[in-house]
Amino acid sequence: MTDQMMRAAICDAYGPPAAIRVESVAKPVPGPEDVLIRIHASTVSSADWRIRALAMPKGFGAIARLIFGFSRPRQPIFGTELSGTIEAVGEKVSRFRAGDAVVAYPGGQQGCHAEYRVMPAEGRIVAKPAKLSFEEAAALSFGGATALHYLRDAAKAQPGERVLVIGGSGAVGTAAIQIARALGAAVDATSSAANIELIRSLGAERAIDYAIGQGAAAAYDIVFDTVGDASVAEGLAMLKPGGRLVLIAASLPQMLGTLIPAGQGRKVIAGPAKESREQLEALATMAEAGQFRPLIDSVFALEAIAEAHTRVETRRKRGSVVVTMPVLSASSGS
Ligand SMILES: NC(=O)c1ccc[n+]([C@@H]2O[C@H](COP(=O)([O-])OP(=O)(O)OC[C@H]3O[C@@H](n4cnc5c(N)ncnc54)[C@H](OP(=O)(O)O)[C@@H]3O)[C@@H](O)[C@H]2O)c1
Repeated sequence: MTDQMMRAAICDAYGPPAAIRVESVAKPVPGPEDVLIRIHASTVSSADWRIRALAMPKGFGAIARLIFGFSRPRQPIFGTELSGTIEAVGEKVSRFRAGDAVVAYPGGQQGCHAEYRVMPAEGRIVAKPAKLSFEEAAALSFGGATALHYLRDAAKAQPGERVLVIGGSGAVGTAAIQIARALGAAVDATSSAANIELIRSLGAERAIDYAIGQGAAAAYDIVFDTVGDASVAEGLAMLKPGGRLVLIAASLPQMLGTLIPAGQGRKVIAGPAKESREQLEALATMAEAGQFRPLIDSVFALEAIAEAHTRVETRRKRGSVVVTMPVLSASSGS
């Protein structure tokens, strides 16, 4: 492979994990205001699985083709988040220098399942928190930014409020428990029996096995649903007056339901999470303060990315599935 080439996972047809192949493609070249990042690790997120398989929440199938590409993915390299090292900077860049360890979150623009990615230097990039390994840092953004957006910015969680996280063991759920606690809220969470100890260890006061029970009626200021199986009426029934029901994985009918007044000053919140550099800065600060540590389910080499997708598609992962690029696989791992 020449210096102008890199390894990348390419998906140019919607389908099963085998639809992805790892091949050599042209290495991107930074412009004057860009940085070139040598990627150490990324994640295969629930978004990567949903796009690859066109497995969208009910009612969003046709809309997804408009957003992600009608007959094939418009962006053939998936991967919403990364950790890595700045390899080169454009002539107008002063924010970073070659050698800086960073976390970046292209989010919906994707492109992290590769050895290199170019990003605008002023974009969603921050210094890697020293407390996190490159593998953990790669998993900072997707779950973290989603939880932060909905809890802090949309639902405006306040210190002393009580939050129920439905589905506390995935990438968003594990982040939501920790971030709600960092915002000063008291947290209960649900999971399968196998993950009860995990969600308790992250800070859930009541860890509820969803096969046995659910949150109590009229008990919560915020119900944060990462699963999407409960109806809007079931979610609202668990809210106190003035409470907020946050639907992370809302179906189209649920989204339309947000237009109907919920009564008792309650609010239903749904839609895509916003992505900003400020979120990354806040998440990195929480990580340095020991308030948020991304949880890693499993680690795969880039060449085995189809196996990583297979794991994500089970919808049983605990935290994030990490993919390491050859540079990290060859080193100590942090
Ligand atoms: N709106 C947005 O902008 C946005 C952003 C990010 C993600 N999302 C969506 O949010 C959802 C969660 O994302 P994620 O990345 O956290 O997914 P994930 O990591 O795949 O979530 C897996 C977890 O979900 C739990 N789970 C599955 N069924 C459950 C149930 N009936 N009750 C409680 N927990 C259950 C599993 O726990 P157990 O094994 O213990 O059952 C597993 O640990 C996805 O649907 C994703 O598409 C939306």
